[in-house]
Amino acid sequence: MSGFSQSPEWQQFAAAAKSADSRATQVRVLDAAGLKIDVSAQRMSPELDAAANVLLDKRGLDAARKALFAGEKVNNTENRAAWHTALRDPAPPPAVALERERVRAFVQRADTERRWRNIVHIGIGGSDWGPRLAVSAFGYTGRWRAIRFVANVDGHAIEGGLAGLDPHDTLVVVSSKSFTTTETLYNAERALAWLRSGELEDPYQHIVAVTANPQRAIEWGVPEAHVFRFWDWVGGRYSLWSSINLPVALSVGSEVIAGMQSGAAEMDAHFRQADWQNNAPVQLALAGVVNRSVLGYASQAVVPYDTRLFYLVSYLQQLEMESLGKSVDIHGNPVDLPTGPAVWGMPGTDAQHTFFQWLHQGSDGAPVDFLVCRQADHHWPEHHRQLLANCLAQRAALLRSKTVEEASTGEGDALAVHKATSGGRPSNLIVLPRLTPHALGALLAMYEHKVFVQSVIWGINAFDQWGVEYGKIMASGMARELAGDLSQAGQHDASTSYWLQRLASKPAS
Ligand code: F6P
Repeated sequence: MSGFSQSPEWQQFAAAAKSADSRATQVRVLDAAGLKIDVSAQRMSPELDAAANVLLDKRGLDAARKALFAGEKVNNTENRAAWHTALRDPAPPPAVALERERVRAFVQRADTERRWRNIVHIGIGGSDWGPRLAVSAFGYTGRWRAIRFVANVDGHAIEGGLAGLDPHDTLVVVSSKSFTTTETLYNAERALAWLRSGELEDPYQHIVAVTANPQRAIEWGVPEAHVFRFWDWVGGRYSLWSSINLPVALSVGSEVIAGMQSGAAEMDAHFRQADWQNNAPVQLALAGVVNRSVLGYASQAVVPYDTRLFYLVSYLQQLEMESLGKSVDIHGNPVDLPTGPAVWGMPGTDAQHTFFQWLHQGSDGAPVDFLVCRQADHHWPEHHRQLLANCLAQRAALLRSKTVEEASTGEGDALAVHKATSGGRPSNLIVLPRLTPHALGALLAMYEHKVFVQSVIWGINAFDQWGVEYGKIMASGMARELAGDLSQAGQHDASTSYWLQRLASKPAS
């Protein structure tokens, strides 16, 4: 909405945020679906809470939330609902229940018949990160079936994905909402050729498709009984709750899916029922808006102190950056405030030895989401103590400053100035009881709703991704040019033309 930054509700909110306390002098921990979310190290004051309530009211969060859960067409530029919450509803629409049952029955049959030792999963973006995350979270000590993920169009990815496998006991799962994505179709063709070379009775019996475009998958050759569907009202980055979870069930068990869905459903209920003050997605969203649009932090770090959550960073990158990387509002007007931050990160403690120096003493800094499990699933309590200590210590150090005096060992200590830190860096601490499917489901749903609330505050559509399309179209034109077809050659900048000519015909000389 044009001029939003000038509105009284924003001005009041921004002023309250600037003068609010930022040193965690009070504890504020929210309870949501079994998670504890400590927002104490964000700006906090009664004035800010009051201004936030007015802001959320004026931006129409209540009505927007109702529309989301009712399956209304909240994705206005694509004229679609964004009804991922229906996928994890304990009482879902009949079509969803039917498809859930088809996936369950397929997996159960494969398990009973002890079919498929290996899965090769082909898909990218939202058709990849969710299954990858769930498998690495719950298959870290071993899997029912080995699974390899192939996403990139780089031929090395599919080459490595298939290397050493036996086509006879391999199932290829092709996941693509649109079933038109170049990377996925190229990799699927390679996998099909590989299956064909394996002298199988029917190579297509070794392929399943998961898609919202079943017709395309059937035309491509996948038997109808092997096509599992979802719907255009499920955004790619919100699709983990759909049949996209089939490879997860094959690899780490159907109960993982059921657990994640129940955790997400519990978070949905929390988001719908908790008042704004105690509502975890709402409070995280408000803190994120303060950090980005008031304090000017251009990025947000995510540091899970759990190596099993390695792919959480990529998952959240897509969720947050594809959803909030917009500069015009739903009416097509420029948003006159900075919107979604860049999201980046790495599991701790590795992250401490990689980029924490920049967080502590760099000129920009970034807010950090620290995540940790209260209880580990291994048998070495001393490891977990160390992990917890590092998580708490880094967060506390980012918050509290170390003055030159405090850093000094005595008069004339020239190093003191190098050791001082400014502190005051905002952060959240998210504590999971254990890394259970329920807790991960709740966590992902919490981030989804946080993103949604931020989109409502900024007035943008969280569910489209038009920017990505532009590059995709250009790439298909350039692929033709590189193949020597100059009939529709584009007008390029000088450097692009230079390289198209040199990379076109032959390897570098
Ligand atoms: O990156 C753009 C995008 O459209 C994502 O939103 C989506 O998750 C990904 O491509 C893959 O799309 P599909 O599932 O249709 O292959």
